[in-house]
Amino acid sequence: MDLFEYQGRDLFERHGLPVLGGGVAETPQEARAIAERLGRVVVKAQVKVGGRGKAGGVKLAADADEAQARASDILGMDIKGHTVHKVMLAETADIADEYYFSYLLDRANRTFLCIASVAGGMEIEQVAEEQPDKVAKIAIDANKGVDAAKAREIVAAAQFPAEVADQVADIAVKLWQTFVAEDATLVEVNPLAKTGNGKVLCLDAKITLDENASFRHPDHEALVDQSAVDPLEQAAKAKDLNYVKLDGEVGIIGNGAGLVMSTLDVVAYAGERHGGVKPANFLDIGGGASAAVMANGLEIVLSDPSVKSVFVNVFGGITACDEVANGIVQALALLEQRGERVTKPLVVRLDGNNAEAGRAILDGANNPLVQRVDTMDGAAERAAELAAAGV
Ligand SMILES: Nc1ncnc2c1ncn2[C@@H]1O[C@H](COP(=O)(O)OP(=O)(O)OP(=O)(O)O)[C@@H](O)[C@H]1O
Ligand SMILES: [Mg+2]
Repeated sequence: MDLFEYQGRDLFERHGLPVLGGGVAETPQEARAIAERLGRVVVKAQVKVGGRGKAGGVKLAADADEAQARASDILGMDIKGHTVHKVMLAETADIADEYYFSYLLDRANRTFLCIASVAGGMEIEQVAEEQPDKVAKIAIDANKGVDAAKAREIVAAAQFPAEVADQVADIAVKLWQTFVAEDATLVEVNPLAKTGNGKVLCLDAKITLDENASFRHPDHEALVDQSAVDPLEQAAKAKDLNYVKLDGEVGIIGNGAGLVMSTLDVVAYAGERHGGVKPANFLDIGGGASAAVMANGLEIVLSDPSVKSVFVNVFGGITACDEVANGIVQALALLEQRGERVTKPLVVRLDGNNAEAGRAILDGANNPLVQRVDTMDGAAERAAELAAAGV
């Protein structure tokens, strides 16, 4: 999960990093009130995309009047497809120098990485291209982390000037502590700025949190941007379902992430022959899919108004096909009981452990909405055809 700058700034502050006073506003009036408290401010668009400054989303304001006016300009702006709903107001720094500092998960090399540069303020990708010698990359051993000695190594490698070395080293240690304590996969400060009187400050904060660790961070729940959460994904999450909304018409339910991924592919491929219909979602109901889980899955997928047909693709392994077939039959009955009238066609492919018994159960149930197709390609073709007919 990516955080907004103001959320990152708050986390930085909590972990003792040097940040300037700030506040977040959703209206020009709120912005005015914050500026009355802070004085001369920068008004910064809060969007989860880079290059806000260049897009006109970062503006100086000398007083509360100007802050209100700039907030009014920036709120509602579109920055690279992101509408600005909030602005952050921050005290202004008298910037003498801009540096870059980040920690990130380096998946390719199976390690953590520090990227630091004395050429900050602009995009680090650009610096890396134009002045590669100005970008230091230092691997961080997960077990050792960043202590004072490692921080010195980073400061030396990036050639930070002597007068800021102590401050940057201290920031390097605290930023690493933030990275670990919050279970982040990225913390980025650009610019890390030196002011006219020699103080080093974090003037921007970009943080990505690892959602796999959210179980140990109940406080992170409050950082979720509810306005950006897809309602179906939210409902699925509440039911512990592994669901991702996509923008097609064929609802997909399968057991096992790999099988569901390949189901998306075959449906997209089949869809090309049927008016370009596409998968409407990813939904993995996992190994031991009970009737209740199947019912929850069907309920989510069927409640998506763009879904015109559903492809249930099950390969029986530990959970045998007869259990899954019973699950589907019971799930449809359960949905009827819950008052959800199912009207969309379901194409079911069962294969693997006890496939014959499973197919017999489905045939015996004789539900007119359920069509059985025994191959994955054939079922994808049929589901795409039905979706195209229903559009
Ligand atoms: N508190 C501040 N006081 C003075 N100048 C600031 C302050 N915050 C930012 N700036 C200036 O504005 C520039 C852009 O700010 P910032 O880095 O936050 O946004 P950005 O880099 O355009 O956006 P992004 O980081 O999303 O790409 C900074 O490089 C800095 O020169
Ligand atoms: Mg920046």
